[in-house]
Amino acid sequence: MKLAILGSGRGSNFMAIAKAIEEGKLDATIELVISDKPDAMILTHASSLGIKAFAVPSADYPDRKTHEEAILNHLESHEVDLVVLAGYMRILTPYFIEKYRDRIINIHPSLLPSFKGLHAQKQALEYGVKVSGATVHLVNEEVDAGKILAQRCVPVFETDTVETLSKRILTVEHELLPEVLMKISMGEIQLPRRSK
Ligand code: GRF
Repeated sequence: MKLAILGSGRGSNFMAIAKAIEEGKLDATIELVISDKPDAMILTHASSLGIKAFAVPSADYPDRKTHEEAILNHLESHEVDLVVLAGYMRILTPYFIEKYRDRIINIHPSLLPSFKGLHAQKQALEYGVKVSGATVHLVNEEVDAGKILAQRCVPVFETDTVETLSKRILTVEHELLPEVLMKISMGEIQLPRRSK
């Protein structure tokens, strides 16, 4: 299973995937890591592991479509099977999604469909939920709304801050995302068949 990972920041979920591969738990290869941010840590982490990693900055393109076309060209030339969004902070257009329909997965730090979008952990705290967690889902045209592949929950404590809750959720993200990829690679999670 050939993976491409798209991320805009820290890259801790990327590292969890790379670790699972390194430890022989996940039968996959990370073909390339692409960021829209040239200074993203995810690129530094990937390069240090010898994985092809580079930025495709949106500012270099006149519009979203040409930016996405540039990324799609890289994905196609590497014959990627699955695109993993790991902290990728841009919303993909229907054009991109159609090219990799049911082959793009995202990790989100809440139990969807609760708390979609930005600052999910802050939203959860403000709402006062007693349980939150992480969701891995397929990406469709609506933000954080595609078919749910897996979820894991964590408790929310009265004393929690955004930082403590985010940290607790991140720990389960690092387990859940590689596990989902493992299950996809072994056929335990079946992605919808492609019609083309
Ligand atoms: C994670 O919390 C993920 O759920 C969200 O963005 C964050 C990315 O973190 N989509 P990292 O870059 O993987 O460390």
